[in-house]
Amino acid sequence: MLIAIDGPAGAGKSTVARELARELGFTYLDSGALYRCVALRSLREPHADPGELAREARIELARSDGAAEPRVLLDGHEVGNAIRTPEVSAAASVLAADPAVRDALLAKQRALIASGDWVAEGRDIGTVVAPQAELKVFLSAEPSERARRRALELGADVETVLAEQTLRDERDRTRQHAPLQRAPDAVEIDTTSLTIGEVVQHIARLAAAARSA
Ligand code: CDP
Repeated sequence: MLIAIDGPAGAGKSTVARELARELGFTYLDSGALYRCVALRSLREPHADPGELAREARIELARSDGAAEPRVLLDGHEVGNAIRTPEVSAAASVLAADPAVRDALLAKQRALIASGDWVAEGRDIGTVVAPQAELKVFLSAEPSERARRRALELGADVETVLAEQTLRDERDRTRQHAPLQRAPDAVEIDTTSLTIGEVVQHIARLAAAARSA
């Protein structure tokens, strides 16, 4: 079974997807980590062709049952928080508009999810990566609440985070290839005033219903 969770930055995708994977005993796929790894390499090698970087990058996502922050290895080295900086977030969203980058990472994602049970989160899981997903969820929240959450996570100023987030959302939503959008058959959950636990339980109920259908 595959559960696809898409949505904009700060809607709660990562935390929810991780906890849901742990609860269901599924494997968690953080597709954004792939884009972030390519962005990190491209910031280090600004003259390299992004599509080639994406094809060549050896990205390993340690299989995670959601218990801990999954380890991400790029070309054999653990990247840790180096892929979570605002610079990498912005670069990832720019690179994510490049069809050559998307194609390379699409192949990697499809290879990963080919077997087993997954909770996969990102921008285009339900629309492009896994349109066959048994359950699709689109998480949303008010922009100011999303910025508040991300600022807390990063220890950064809310206004700065909100400005960066607005730019990134706009780029993600308006790009030509695989833009951020709700799949027609996705269930939308507005997490603005919900706790992580409430969202996880809501999706777990939807998953149980999808399974028995
Ligand atoms: O955690 P957050 O929502 O801030 O970002 P992320 O999921 O790590 O994704 C970082 C960037 O990668 C996004 O802004 C998108 O531009 C891109 N991305 C994408 O295009 N498609 C995906 N499936 C996942 C991420």
